[in-house]
Amino acid sequence: MAEFTLPKNSKVEKGRHYAAPAGTKNLKTFKVYRWNPEHVDAAGNAENPTLDSYEVDMDSCGPMVLDAIIKIKDEMDSTLTFRRSCREGICGSCAMNIDGTNTLACTKAIGDVKGDIKIYPLPHMPVIKDLVPDLSHFYAQYESIQPWMQTQSAPPSNSERLQSPEDREKMDGLYECILCACCSTSCPSYWWNSDRYLGPAILLQAYRWIVDSRDEMTGDRLDNLEDPFRLYRCHTIMNCAKTCPKGLNPAKAISEIKKLMLERRV
Ligand code: SF4
Ligand code: SF4
Ligand code: FES
Repeated sequence: MAEFTLPKNSKVEKGRHYAAPAGTKNLKTFKVYRWNPEHVDAAGNAENPTLDSYEVDMDSCGPMVLDAIIKIKDEMDSTLTFRRSCREGICGSCAMNIDGTNTLACTKAIGDVKGDIKIYPLPHMPVIKDLVPDLSHFYAQYESIQPWMQTQSAPPSNSERLQSPEDREKMDGLYECILCACCSTSCPSYWWNSDRYLGPAILLQAYRWIVDSRDEMTGDRLDNLEDPFRLYRCHTIMNCAKTCPKGLNPAKAISEIKKLMLERRV
């Protein structure tokens, strides 16, 4: 994990205010978390984060929160840092906390939020800068479940490894995961135990490979999860299912893994 230099227990202070051009009629204010590790005080300590506010002219802004953030960066404050790529809910890179909920900025409609819109990075993750969390640990956990098809038998000589429509259906609700981390960063168990608990996103991905009829390492995959922390820290609080911007249910996938663990013990 990259070094986390934000002062512990640091307060988010009131930041700069960027007013809209005079005469703007249709305004919306976005209050955005800002933190730059390179901003240090005279003693060399990192400065506290701030909540900067930007008045955006909605008559020349697209409908989604990401449209407003891009407009702020283009027209008001080029130092604002965030991740985004696809702009259509597919890449998962614009995940952030908007109006108190982890979601994708590109699919969150500005019109769905009454009043000012507060935007923070995904919670309980180290911050690299502004709205960019450090996902190194999250991806290392993903790597630990070996997210690729593993086989022992020889492939068919004249086709790909095929799957029946029924077996393919078992992956519905799993393959759609875009690894945005909204669920894991809303999970209290993951907040407190992310050093050892894999969290909802990675466990949903683990289950995706466990139920894939073409994969031949199911036993090893279950062995890899049989651990008091890696799997069993889920206490069915369900924040993960509530927050998933793709409408998936990681808690259900976790309970299916636990069921398989029980079945192979009897
Ligand atoms: S399950 Fe949903 S919230 Fe969790 S990583 Fe996948 S897409 Fe994101
Ligand atoms: S159901 Fe499990 S994984 Fe989902 S938020 Fe709750 S504790 Fe976390
Ligand atoms: S920019 Fe790709 S999911 Fe939002």
